Amino acid sequence: MKMKIMTSHHNLSTFPLKPCFFLALLSLSLFHLFSSRSPISQTLVTQNYIVRFKDYEKSDHHRRYLESRVKSDGWKWIERRNPAMDYATDFGVLAIQKESVIGEIEGLEMVKDVNLDFSYTKRDLLGFVDGEKRPGKMFTSMSFSEAGESYAVAQTSNSSIHWGRQLLGQKSQVTSLFGADVLWSKGFTGHKVKMAIFDTGIRADHPHFRNIKERTNWTNEDTLNDNLGHGTFVAGVIAGQDAECLGFAPDAEIYAFRVFTDAQVSYTSWFLDAFNYAIATNMDVLNLSIGGPDYLDLPFVEKVWEITANNIIMVSAIGNDGPSLWNIKQSSRPM
Ligand SMILES: *[C@@H]1O[C@H](CO)[C@@H](O)[C@H](O)[C@H]1NC(C)=O
Ligand SMILES: *[C@@H]1O[C@H](CO)[C@@H](O)[C@H](O)[C@H]1NC(C)=O
Ligand SMILES: *[C@@H]1O[C@H](CO)[C@@H](O)[C@H](O)[C@H]1NC(C)=O
Repeated sequence: MKMKIMTSHHNLSTFPLKPCFFLALLSLSLFHLFSSRSPISQTLVTQNYIVRFKDYEKSDHHRRYLESRVKSDGWKWIERRNPAMDYATDFGVLAIQKESVIGEIEGLEMVKDVNLDFSYTKRDLLGFVDGEKRPGKMFTSMSFSEAGESYAVAQTSNSSIHWGRQLLGQKSQVTSLFGADVLWSKGFTGHKVKMAIFDTGIRADHPHFRNIKERTNWTNEDTLNDNLGHGTFVAGVIAGQDAECLGFAPDAEIYAFRVFTDAQVSYTSWFLDAFNYAIATNMDVLNLSIGGPDYLDLPFVEKVWEITANNIIMVSAIGNDGPSLWNIKQSSRPM
């Protein structure tokens, strides 16, 4: 863990020294987005901005600070009604109409910087448009097709499972292939581990999970359920107890963070609020199911460093978009 933190700080200090490299990356990726032949599968929303502050304060405090200092009009504070509102935060979201306001806000003493609140809309389920994959905060086609299969299993199977010696003979289980039974026999079953799953949510009474502790809503949709199957699949890999598809840590406490809508839309600000909540509520492990050009998204990247510096183990998908130039991505992991 110490190694990780030191690496992060190293990255942090060299990052601003490479603006040209950063700009080159940015223009390349914009080129990639806008030069596509087919209709663009992501919509870049440009009017919402993330204002990062130097300190953590309650949201109202930040709002009043801006209201008292910013002279120009053409901006509006956006209320974020989610479970993070009970805690202090390090950012606000503003709808900004005039570009001049950005400079004025960036000049304020307590403001760290102002960045776009990126939005990525994914229209096709498998990540392909005309045979090409697109960047964005989205599920990879690989994990999604796995999700489809597993979900089908989860829908139809009707068997209970008793953990213990019976499992040792089941060599077809992926958990056995990875030697999970050895750990189980030593008593490592995920007991007391707070496992945050950032995904499409999960059904409250799903029969394959014994330990769904909390489900939280970070989207603008009025549901906590998983209507796609992906969040349920990931939870199944971690803690499922269906006999046909066992999870690795059946006793882990599941905290389902619903950060994606049914249309697989998400925003940087939804992730930032959810990350802050994961820190505030002492999650142990966080599983992030996204791909995309997150390394261009500074508030996102630095929040990931903060997560790991807070001793939260971050697990993330990697490489599903590749391999070719620019597209083996991992979600901004520090190492
Ligand atoms: C599941 O199995 C139990 C016991 O065999 C049976 O009573 C029940 O009807 C089954 N449920 C479904 C949905 O098949
Ligand atoms: C999720 O949050 C949104 C935005 O605050 C709200 O409109 C919606 O009702 C919430 N849904 C649930 C199930 O909490
Ligand atoms: C985390 O999510 C990825 C991508 O969906 C999945 O492949 C992986 O199994 C998950 N990791 C854990 C520990 O569940």
